[in-house]
Amino acid sequence: MNTFYVTTPIYYANSLPHLGHLYTMIVADTVARAKRQRGIETYFLTGTDEHGINIERAAQKAGRTPKEQADYVVSYYKKMTSEFALDTAHGGYDIFMRTTEPFHYEGVSELWRRIAKAKTPRGNDAIYKGHYEGWFCAPCAEYKTEDEYQKPANEGDPPTCLIHETPLDRVSEESYFFRLSDYDEALLSVYESRPDFVRPESRRNEVMSFVRGGLQDLSVSRLKTSVSWGVPVPDDPAHTMYVWFDALTNYITAIGFGNEEREQKVGFEKFWPALHLVGKDILRFHAVYWPAFLLAAGIELPRAIVAHGMWLDPNGRKMSKTLGNTIELDVLQKYFSIDAIRYFVLREMVFGQDGRFGYEGLIDRANSDLASGLGNLSSRTLTMIGKYCDGRIPSGVIAEDRLLQAKRAGIDTDQTTLAGFIETARDQYLLQFENLAFSRALETAWSIVSRADKMISDAKPWDLAKDENQKQTLSAVLYRAAETLRWLSVLLHPIMPGATQALWSQLGLEGSPAEINPSELKWGELKEGTAIADVQAIFPRIDKAKTMEQINADQKPSGAHATEADAVPGAPSATKPEPPMQHATEADAVGVTNYIEIDDFAKVDLRVGQVLSAERIPKADKLLLMKVDIGEEQPRQILAGIAQYYEPEQLVGRKVVIVANLKHRKLRGYESQGMVVAASYGEEGRPVIATFTEDVPNGARLK
Ligand code: MSP
Repeated sequence: MNTFYVTTPIYYANSLPHLGHLYTMIVADTVARAKRQRGIETYFLTGTDEHGINIERAAQKAGRTPKEQADYVVSYYKKMTSEFALDTAHGGYDIFMRTTEPFHYEGVSELWRRIAKAKTPRGNDAIYKGHYEGWFCAPCAEYKTEDEYQKPANEGDPPTCLIHETPLDRVSEESYFFRLSDYDEALLSVYESRPDFVRPESRRNEVMSFVRGGLQDLSVSRLKTSVSWGVPVPDDPAHTMYVWFDALTNYITAIGFGNEEREQKVGFEKFWPALHLVGKDILRFHAVYWPAFLLAAGIELPRAIVAHGMWLDPNGRKMSKTLGNTIELDVLQKYFSIDAIRYFVLREMVFGQDGRFGYEGLIDRANSDLASGLGNLSSRTLTMIGKYCDGRIPSGVIAEDRLLQAKRAGIDTDQTTLAGFIETARDQYLLQFENLAFSRALETAWSIVSRADKMISDAKPWDLAKDENQKQTLSAVLYRAAETLRWLSVLLHPIMPGATQALWSQLGLEGSPAEINPSELKWGELKEGTAIADVQAIFPRIDKAKTMEQINADQKPSGAHATEADAVPGAPSATKPEPPMQHATEADAVGVTNYIEIDDFAKVDLRVGQVLSAERIPKADKLLLMKVDIGEEQPRQILAGIAQYYEPEQLVGRKVVIVANLKHRKLRGYESQGMVVAASYGEEGRPVIATFTEDVPNGARLK
């Protein structure tokens, strides 16, 4: 049977949706619509990843149970998918998968059992019990990976936590392991025999060299006493499954693996294998661990794993709240049409590479490509049909005796030239689309727009209309333009469902471009005499200056989260909106129980300083090296782990608070002579540097 299954990652239920999440959903939605348009029965999955220590802790801090926490975040996702027309009601996803679903527990347990019974290609048990050893931060209550700690300056010393700057403990606990090390050859032979299995090629090469470098066995459980929020290991409830084992399995449990009822309802047999769309940061889990689990369980591998890049700001920086360069979903929703956003993200990000997103760039593209491009082509064509052809699609045929006149007017009398061009462009477009090269596909589609525009500009229908002898030429030009628009509305439908439907209806066509298979389009099927509908701009022009002004005004902190509170189910509107999840950890400040004496506080010498210079340190992407004047003879040299949140230029000239009597220490070979005081909030301990709103001299003491 001709079926297709596409998935987005399932998103962590500890933070609210943002542009990155919206993006993958748009891509998956576009792919799903394109498949459906070709008559292929398609299943589209998105959802949330609801287990694990991070969710447990987020819940605890927000005073919720983990399930309440997940429900809370899910309500925001549902709000987003509804507002951006990605949910089932709008023809989008088929399932919003949640790993807390009971059928998921059944399926994931079944997968575990199968793997636990399996032998690896080298004849060993695929799962075995051992000890997990790692660097543990007690205040964070979690193991830290290499990029989450600061390596020690002196060999033999423990690394330090980036958040707490305290030494980590070496801790070991009992754990089940998946014998990943036995799967390197099997995986390499998959990558080699299926060059399209991991895409794009650059990512495939990365994955292959990672596997060639040798694989370590993977710890796939934690003691329930350390992590209780998760799926219990079958037959050993003292252990909780590793959250990625649980999460990846959602792709098969959602469609019926391990649960008869789901199998009846959807069909694992029917839809598996899937095309997985993922961000490049989680490629390893999908392209190495997941296929290895499936190989062990004897389950068919995914159709492909396709990794996209990250959205950066217009200057190529990571987006962050501190830098104030994030793209807010509520702003997008308020000022831009869904189709313009879909077009922009698919046109702007070359699939596989990082992309840059700024509101100004979005407005520029929406105005140039959509309003002035496709929008203008459609409104001028339809307006002229209204004006010169009584609002009916004219005939595209030029009689023999009028051909000479038509030639004189500068039009190609052979319609097949244009038809041939468009057919070739269509084939190329579909091929590029199939390869998920949306940006290139859209360039191809716009070559059709330009060609039709040029035909109109060359033929000048407004002049032809003044000449009785050129009636047929005029009709032919307008017919060709209208037929081109019909093709474009079919081709572009998966990308811009709303606008293409509007265009289709304005052309006077029945039904929807969603029902037309683009590869079966035939030139000339637009019927002469069809009455067009009222002409309306499908892509209204955006007033850039005004919109930017409004966006900037909206971004002032007060309004920013207004819509987030809307998503809290049952929240009475008159009450103060509940703070959004990300800020839940601000509750850290509440509930202090270890009081100190004033003398204890007096031991800390806090001084006002001014940042004289700040720079990044080579090969230390988290650290900034600053010179800070605290009223002493020489400025202090201070290192701070804030490079991911602050640009050096942002800090120069700024007043800060320095712990002046902290023991000097060496980091990455540089001496740090103090510490900058910053608030730390959110799951990742985002730093916000303390400062003063009034003028205060350098060196003044805080007491
Ligand atoms: N829960 C895991 C996925 C499990 S799938 C079995 C997870 N969740 S996530 O919420 O952290 O991230 C989900 C996706 O969002 C990832 O594909 C990630 O690449 C994507 N993005 C996060 N920030 C992004 C950008 N700035 N730009 C584009 N995508 C980004 O990982």
